[in-house]
Parts: sequence; C-alpha cells; structure tokens
Amino acid sequence: LNVLAIVGSPRKRGNTDLLIEKILEGARSKKNDVQKISLYDLEIGPCIDCRRCQGNGHECVIKDDMENIYQRLSAADVIILGTPLYWYGPTAPMKAFIDRLRPFISSKKLNGKEAIVVVPSEEGAGACGPLTEMFKLSLDYLGVNLMDSLLVKAYEKGEVMEYPDALEIAFALGSGISKR
Ligand SMILES: Cc1cc2nc3c(=O)[nH]c(=O)nc-3n(C[C@H](O)[C@H](O)[C@H](O)COP(=O)(O)O)c2cc1C
Repeated sequence: LNVLAIVGSPRKRGNTDLLIEKILEGARSKKNDVQKISLYDLEIGPCIDCRRCQGNGHECVIKDDMENIYQRLSAADVIILGTPLYWYGPTAPMKAFIDRLRPFISSKKLNGKEAIVVVPSEEGAGACGPLTEMFKLSLDYLGVNLMDSLLVKAYEKGEVMEYPDALEIAFALGSGISKR
C-alpha cells in the first residue's frame, strides 16, 4: 500500500518526526511504499473560501506546494497526520494543510482511505481530546477512516526515544498496515 506521512512539527528529529519515522519503519517492514512530507519545509497558504474547488474540476486556485500534495494524497492508501499539541490544537501549518483539504469534499478522492493521527504533547493524552476530535470529525467528513491515534506524553526534543513502549506501539501501527 501507499503510505503518506505529513509531519506538522518544526523540529526535525523531534517527537512527532521520530514517532512517524517509527510508524514508517513498521510500514516498510511489510513492504508498503512510504513517503514523508514536512509541512515546515513547504509554502502552504491559508484557504480563502473562494469555493472554486467546489465547482467542476475540484481544483484549488492557490498555486503553492499544496498542488503536489493533492496528487500525493490522491495516490495514498494510508495517510499519517502528525502534529505536536500547540495550545490544545494543531500547529499553524497543520491547520492550514487541513483547511486546504476542501477540494476533496466535492472530488471525494479521499473517500475510503485510512488515517493514523500522531500527537506528542507535554501534558499527554488527557489534553488531546479536542484535537483528536477535530481530526476525527474532519476525516469523517472527507470519508477517511481514522484507524488509530498515537498520543504520547513528551516535551523535550527527541524525548520519545526514551519511551520504548511508545516506539513499539508506533512500529506496530506501521507494520499493521496491510491490504484487508
Ligand atoms: C507554541 C507551543 C504550544 C504548546 N502547547 C502545548 C499544549 O497546549 N499542551 C501540551 O501538552 N503541550 C504543548 N506544547 C508542547 C509540545 O506539544 C511538546 O513539546 C511536543 O513534544 C513537541 O513535539 P515535537 O518535538 O514534535 O515538536 C506546546 C509547545 C509549543 C512550542
């Protein structure tokens, strides 16, 4: 299967990135094709609610790095969305990315795909309710099934490396990706 990971943390080798790498390692071990995109390396402008994507063609009028991501999302079977918890929500680039998924409402091209959400945070899973609910509702709206959420308590850069249990769960999530 095609697995596409979207990293919404500014920290390379930070907690989000490392957890996603573990998931991808698991996915690779089962011969899935994996790709990773770091949103902080790209220009992704905010949705301007012009609604042109709701018409024929379902195309976004904003010409930026999202153009390439639209194609890769359409080709993916499993989408991994990772963001650290920032004020009980996603990071700003992850929010911009989600807002820009609007063309998929009318094109329905994400319909039937699977997703995994990854969120490290200082406070841990108990603080991630509103964010995981936002992901769940938004993915439902797009016809994407949220398979699992990985919520890990971690604060310092790379701290998740000290938590073998979390890394094991991450690997298992990835190696569990297979054709049904
Ligand atoms: C601007 C900002 C806001 C944050 N807000 C929260 C928060 O509301 N709750 C929380 O538990 N952690 C919060 N954190 C901590 C991060 O979620 C935590 O350090 C996380 O492990 C960072 O992940 P990363 O290494 O992938 O960047 C915040 C960090 C920053 C920089």
